[in-house]
Amino acid sequence: MTSNVLVVGASGAIGQALVDKLANEGKLVYAVNRTGQRALKWPESVNVFAMSQHDETALEQFKSEMTTSNISFSQVFITVGVLHDTQRSLLPEKRLEDISASALSEYFKVNSVIPMLWLKHIASLITNDATVVCLSARVGSISDNKLGGWYGYRASKAALNMYIKTAAVEYRRRKKGVVFVSYHPGTVDSALSEPFQKNVPAKKLFSPEFTTQNLLSHIKGLNRDKAVHFIDWQGVDIEW
Ligand SMILES: NC(=O)c1ccc[n+]([C@@H]2O[C@H](COP(=O)([O-])OP(=O)(O)OC[C@H]3O[C@@H](n4cnc5c(N)ncnc54)[C@H](OP(=O)(O)O)[C@@H]3O)[C@@H](O)[C@H]2O)c1
Repeated sequence: MTSNVLVVGASGAIGQALVDKLANEGKLVYAVNRTGQRALKWPESVNVFAMSQHDETALEQFKSEMTTSNISFSQVFITVGVLHDTQRSLLPEKRLEDISASALSEYFKVNSVIPMLWLKHIASLITNDATVVCLSARVGSISDNKLGGWYGYRASKAALNMYIKTAAVEYRRRKKGVVFVSYHPGTVDSALSEPFQKNVPAKKLFSPEFTTQNLLSHIKGLNRDKAVHFIDWQGVDIEW
C-alpha cells in the first residue's frame, strides 16, 4: 500500500495552504472540498475530490474508491469549520437573545458532525502509525472559557474535541500507533476570521502558510505514546 495524505476542506485558507505545502514537498495529496476546484498553484499530482460531506453515501463511495485503488493515508487533516455565514444567517452569538435553534444546528453540522463522519470513514484507510489532525479552536476548551459568547461555535468545537478524544480511545484498541491532534491555529487570515480581525495585532494575525509550517513542525515532534493531543500554534497543550 502507498502512503499518502488526505486534506478535507481543501478550499479553505488553511486547507489550501496545507495541500500546497505537502504536495510541493513531494507527498501524494488527496484533497476533498465541496466544489472540486483546484487552486492554481497546486501541482498536477494533487487528486481533487468534490463532495457534499453531509452525505454519508459520498463518504462511503470515497472510501470504496480508495480501498479499490489500495490507497492508505499516513496523515489526515480535517479543516472544515464555520464561524459566520450570512446566507445561512449565521453570526457568533453575543448574548442569550441571539440564540437560534437553526444556527446552533448548523454550527454542529459543520464543526462537529462532518469531522466525526470522517473519523468514522477513515478507520480502514489510515496506516497503523497515522497522524489525524482536526482543526479545532481554543474557544472549544471548556476549562478555558472565561469570556463567554459564541455559544454555537464554542459548543460545536467542544463537541468536536469530545468526538476526537472518544475516537482516539477506540482507535488505540484497533490501531495502536494512530495519534490524534485537536489543533488551535491561532488567528489566521482567512474568510472565517475576516470580520473579527480588527482587534488582532498584526503580528498575531498569522498567514495560512505560517500556520501550515507551525502545524507540520509540531506534529513531527509529538509524543506518540499519547493517543490524543489538544495543542495550540506554539505546540503548547491546551486544557480540554
Ligand atoms: N482562521 C482562524 O483564525 C481560525 C482560528 C481557530 C480555528 N480555526 C479553524 O480552522 C479551520 C479552517 O479555517 P480557515 O481559517 O481555513 O477558514 P476558511 O478559509 O473559511 O475555510 C473553511 C473550511 O470549512 C469548509 N466549510 C465551511 N462550511 C462548510 C459546509 N457547510 N460544509 C462543508 N464544508 C464547509 C470549507 O470547505 P471547502 O473546502 O469545501 O470550501 C473550508 O474548507 C476551521 O475548522 C476553523 O474553525 C480557524
